[in-house]
Amino acid sequence: MSNWQELDSKYYMQTIVRIPVTLVRGKGVRVWDDKGKEYLDFVGGLAVNCLGHCHPVVADAVAEQARTLMQTSLWYYNVPMLRLAELLVKNSCLDRVFICSSGLEANEGAVKLARRYGHLKLNGAYEVITTMSSFHGRSLALTAASGHPKMHKPYIPLPVGFINVENNDIEAIKAATTNKTCAVMLEPIQGEGGVNVPDDNYLAEVRQWCDQKGILLILDEVQTGIGRLGILFGYQLYGVEPDIMTLAKGLGSGIPIGALLAKEKAAVFTLGDHNATFGGNPVTSAAAYATLKYVLDNDIVGNASKVGQHLMTGLTALQRKYPFITDVRGRGLLLAVEFDADIAQDVLMSCLDSGLLINRLKPNAIRLIPPLIISNQEVDEAMGILDNALSGVAD
Ligand SMILES: Cc1ncc(COP(=O)(O)O)c(C=O)c1O
Repeated sequence: MSNWQELDSKYYMQTIVRIPVTLVRGKGVRVWDDKGKEYLDFVGGLAVNCLGHCHPVVADAVAEQARTLMQTSLWYYNVPMLRLAELLVKNSCLDRVFICSSGLEANEGAVKLARRYGHLKLNGAYEVITTMSSFHGRSLALTAASGHPKMHKPYIPLPVGFINVENNDIEAIKAATTNKTCAVMLEPIQGEGGVNVPDDNYLAEVRQWCDQKGILLILDEVQTGIGRLGILFGYQLYGVEPDIMTLAKGLGSGIPIGALLAKEKAAVFTLGDHNATFGGNPVTSAAAYATLKYVLDNDIVGNASKVGQHLMTGLTALQRKYPFITDVRGRGLLLAVEFDADIAQDVLMSCLDSGLLINRLKPNAIRLIPPLIISNQEVDEAMGILDNALSGVAD
């Protein structure tokens, strides 16, 4: 069967308008489709493949662990999960870890943990303040947490306990805080909601407010964590420490895994409070351990910072050339380009034709989230293709 798109329309749930390409193979920052066409990948599995596609260190870790022990359940100790937990704690400001399978599962855990904290220490406070245009996941609770009214509408009624306030506005958080509030939950830089970089002092002000009120600060680093911003974790960029942090995406460089981390004072789950069949899965944990160890040992974060600056320079040069580019923003290798009209899909399709994958962030914006191992030369190649695409839509 070679008409994969026909199979998709017949058998797969239609929840997304797919780009008309069937990807069959990947290596480094390149992927190939079923017709053998090569693409430079500036989507990277949606900010996931931080070591690129099929990095041998990750592939070997998966293969070896898959031949040794695949699944145990959390009723038993297993070595990869504990090695990963130790590595995460030793390289972050958090003290305890729960390994799960995705970003949404990590965030659900974070909200449950904050509610437990509220029950135990804040007279039953349960509300979590989040911000408009945030994205935290697609469970019912995290749909409510995410500040996108359009996402809410098809699923009303949503679980209670989430207050969406204006983004990048400390006064809005202060005004929404009541004796029912147990936590504020933020992305250091909003990813899906637009690559929205907050004011330099915003996170520090939120941290200070949470301390003043005795409530928790949850940082959702599902997209920003593991070097994406040119620093290992986004909180380091803003000089604050969260009480709870979540990771996923880049953590397994393509293998589905999430992590919930907490400071000792916030790690209030007691026996029986939380569990997951696939929690601490040995194969995904081995992949994440291999990824993180490689990231740390090979200064992949430094590369993301250096190449990210090179990419930013290239994009700002394009902005000078094309007046219809209204903004270039982001940090490290989480960058967005905004246009004065809804041309993102045209730009995307033109890049696709010329062998470059980019992400349509909004009708009028694209996002560039390549693997963190990318080189300046690969960025230059992509900038040439993007330049051509932009000159085409400008005509
Ligand atoms: C900041 C953030 N949190 C949570 C999620 C949800 O993660 P997942 O899709 O693994 O459930 C995403 C996904 O894009 C995200 O960007």
